[in-house]
Amino acid sequence: MKRLGPLLLAAAIAGACAHPAGTGDAARRGRDATGTRATNSTVRATADRRGDCAACHAEIVAEHRGSYHRAAFTDATFQASLALEAPEDRAFCVDCHAPEPDRAAGVGCASCHGAAPHDAKVAKRPSSCAPCHEFTFDGRPELVQKTLSEHASSDFAAVACAECHMPKRAGHRDHRFVAGHSPAAWRSAVHVDVARVVSAGAEPSVRVTLRVDAGHAFPTGDMFRRARLMIFAEAADGHIVASAERTFGRTWTSLPNGARTQASDTRVRGAWTEAVALGEPSGAIARVRWSLVFDRVLAARPPHVALASSDVVTEGELPW
Ligand code: HEC
Ligand code: HEC
Ligand code: HEC
Ligand code: HEC
Ligand code: HEC
Repeated sequence: MKRLGPLLLAAAIAGACAHPAGTGDAARRGRDATGTRATNSTVRATADRRGDCAACHAEIVAEHRGSYHRAAFTDATFQASLALEAPEDRAFCVDCHAPEPDRAAGVGCASCHGAAPHDAKVAKRPSSCAPCHEFTFDGRPELVQKTLSEHASSDFAAVACAECHMPKRAGHRDHRFVAGHSPAAWRSAVHVDVARVVSAGAEPSVRVTLRVDAGHAFPTGDMFRRARLMIFAEAADGHIVASAERTFGRTWTSLPNGARTQASDTRVRGAWTEAVALGEPSGAIARVRWSLVFDRVLAARPPHVALASSDVVTEGELPW
């Protein structure tokens, strides 16, 4: 689902045209501003004091303008979810989704570079993502988002978050942070293999293997994120004669004080494999089809689940 309105996109394009200078032009612009052949370190020292990043990093500013970090507060999904919260609880949400004085700036330059504006090594440490990507809610016993711990215990612990999420683009680190909102981004990291299990007499079964090359659980992040694998056995005319479903996500229950506590966690860490029985078929099976769907859940107040979007990450077919 695309939630960046045409206005926002137009603004990003206009921004890029109004400031043709990229990071590569930062040094030249710095010289223009001071009228001398200032070294990069003098320019950076002045810039740190001025705090106006857009003046010299126009390309990065334009990329950031199209990102979900920038939209973290204005985003329709966030606003819809915020409206479900009691008014006295909203400041907590806003402090993280829009930590800067200008709320519309969302997670802006200073949110990640504030500690040391001109030291990329500091920003690159996973600890610079930690304040927002690993946290608990007041009164809840455990972390609601824990991407940092998941990362630390994954096969990719030695690979910085930025290494995967900020690939090089036109000579600098991409600030668009293309991720969970793009099924295409998941597609390159999620691999599904489905094979027939041959065992005489038993219900038809398939062995499913899911491998996810992400540096954390799949899905990670928000407490309600989930992925669903749906498997359908079809007759020659397309009728479904048997099926099975597996959900990868977390579920939550309420404690007596109203706080939610985690009840289960079936997310994929690296790989998952299972022989899935499809049940007694109601007719002859011609093929088995499968589909892996990524759900962005807005709110889950059982038995109701409100979906913000549901996208097919990958699908396939196996002749029987
Ligand atoms: C007056 C111009 C100017 C301004 C304003 C400016 N910078 Fe820079 N910045 C530079 C120059 C010059 C470089 C080094 C050359 C390059 O990377 O293009 C640089 C490099 C950087 C780097 C890379 C440092 C490294 O370790 O390699 C970061 C991060 C950075 N700037 C962030 C910011 C942030 C955040 C702001 C706003 C608070 C900002 N800059 C404002 C001129 C500026
Ligand atoms: C969500 C965190 C985050 C936000 C928001 C962010 N940056 Fe960065 N930025 C980083 C990280 C991490 C790096 C270092 C990446 C690396 O070296 O692997 C970086 C690198 C840079 C660099 C170094 C040049 C390069 O190689 O790309 C500049 C310049 C920069 N950022 C400017 C900005 C400006 C200007 C903004 C606001 C428009 C901004 N950043 C917003 C995290 C962020
Ligand atoms: C000040 C808080 C803050 C910091 C610091 C921060 N993030 Fe985020 N990040 C957010 C929020 C809030 C969202 C959700 C935005 C939305 O979808 O509304 C987000 C979303 C993301 C996404 C998903 C984007 C998408 O398309 O769904 C990625 C990937 C991400 N952040 C990576 C990082 C990395 C890597 C760092 C550290 C270099 C970092 N973030 C630092 C708050 C932060
Ligand atoms: C080995 C590569 C890798 C590393 C390291 C990594 N990620 Fe990811 N991450 C992915 C992939 C792949 C996805 C799925 C889509 C994509 O390609 O961005 C993803 C998705 C995400 C999302 C979107 C979740 C959603 O539900 O929309 C967030 C947030 C995120 N990562 C944050 C982080 C943070 C924070 C770190 C560091 C603690 C990190 N990632 C480290 C590969 C990585
Ligand atoms: C400490 C930081 C933090 C706090 C506090 C926080 N969030 Fe988030 N939120 C994030 C991060 C990081 C993500 C991105 C992870 C992901 O996409 O799965 C996110 C994602 C979301 C999303 C998904 C956005 C999308 O586009 O899919 C919604 C909705 C949301 N938060 C609502 C809230 C609400 C409502 C509150 C208050 C009850 C809240 N958040 C409090 C950090 C925070």
